[in-house]
Amino acid sequence: MKPEMISPQSQTSVRKMLYAFSSLNDLGQVITSNGSFDEVTRSGLYLILGTLSVARGAIFHYSTEEEGLKILAAKGVDEAMFPLLPLPKEEVPTLLTAPHVVNLDAAPAGLDDFIALHGEMFRCLHAALLVPLRVGEELVGVLTLGDRFGGGEYSEEDLQVLAMMAQQLSVAIHNHRLFSLLQQKAEENRTLYEDLRKIYHDTIRAFAAAIDAKDEYTRGHSARVAAYAVAIGEELRLPEEVIEGLRLAGLLHDIGKITVDSSIIRKKTCLNAEEMLEMHRHPAVGYEILSKIQFPWGDLSSLARHHHEKIDGKGYPDGLSGEDIDLEVRIITLADAFDAMTTDRPYRKQIGLAEALQEVKRCMGSQFDADVARVLFRVLEKELSGGVDPPRILPHLTMEYDAAQVCRVIRAFYQ
Ligand SMILES: [Fe+2]
Repeated sequence: MKPEMISPQSQTSVRKMLYAFSSLNDLGQVITSNGSFDEVTRSGLYLILGTLSVARGAIFHYSTEEEGLKILAAKGVDEAMFPLLPLPKEEVPTLLTAPHVVNLDAAPAGLDDFIALHGEMFRCLHAALLVPLRVGEELVGVLTLGDRFGGGEYSEEDLQVLAMMAQQLSVAIHNHRLFSLLQQKAEENRTLYEDLRKIYHDTIRAFAAAIDAKDEYTRGHSARVAAYAVAIGEELRLPEEVIEGLRLAGLLHDIGKITVDSSIIRKKTCLNAEEMLEMHRHPAVGYEILSKIQFPWGDLSSLARHHHEKIDGKGYPDGLSGEDIDLEVRIITLADAFDAMTTDRPYRKQIGLAEALQEVKRCMGSQFDADVARVLFRVLEKELSGGVDPPRILPHLTMEYDAAQVCRVIRAFYQ
């Protein structure tokens, strides 16, 4: 069979079509590449200029806030001359209804005024064509192109390819704008969250100070328990939200004491049975108070309820033992007792750091969880040997201590 003959004219059309598709494909690849937005717009512009054999051109995006065109990429044009090209929002509809490509030397009648108004700008840009970049009813920018190399006319096919490329470019600019907006909103939300978090923490700190203020001896107790619990939690590399829960639980664990009579809290002699009963109610009261509040980090009400439980089951109020006591509770319990031992109380003086560690060691497996106690020893050993910067426990101690003696106690603990 004789092959069908293709006329030279048809061959040229096919070649042009293939070239157009290939250019569109190239632009698509540039736009979806991992490059920065600056690189994408610059590469996109260069590709459009190369496809149409044009020496000068520029891409602008439209800023609705500033009511003007801001340059994104340019070639053969002095970018510094165009910091912001004013385009009041009243003029935007003109570009939204304009043809896909506007020949500035032969613009349709409806654009006369617009082109006359901005004639100087187009001259400075050496623009022959103006391409509004639109997505739906939104103007996202404009593209200007200068004359073709050698002064040849733009063909109808050139203008069609240009319109298609401009459409791709418009979507890329639009997406970038949406993404930037999203990033900006995320940043605003993050700042707002940080502010709220700070207010939240300040409020809880103030609350903790109010609890401790019932007794001058326990001033700062809650903040120290929080610091010690966080130090242990960090040494155990617990997740951030658990550490946050430990911090808050440290600050609020004794909140139930606000219902305990100050005379009992400040009493300098042993409590009688009735007073002891009253004092022992504070974990359950704390639970009642905190269970009404939904905290974003950890189960604080349970931590407050159980901070006087003992690992051997002899604590209160529920007599929990061993693994039934959550790790966070075991940490708070030790931090609480460690601060009680290392500070003065109305009924006794503090017992020195080395003695406190001996006491912790003695109560391992009965009052305290042995693993958690080991972590406390490890943190202190690291801090005393200067291995933690900044230290998290030592700065909070209110007593003088002999570092060498404490180190000996810790080393003996390991033997
Ligand atoms: Fe307590």
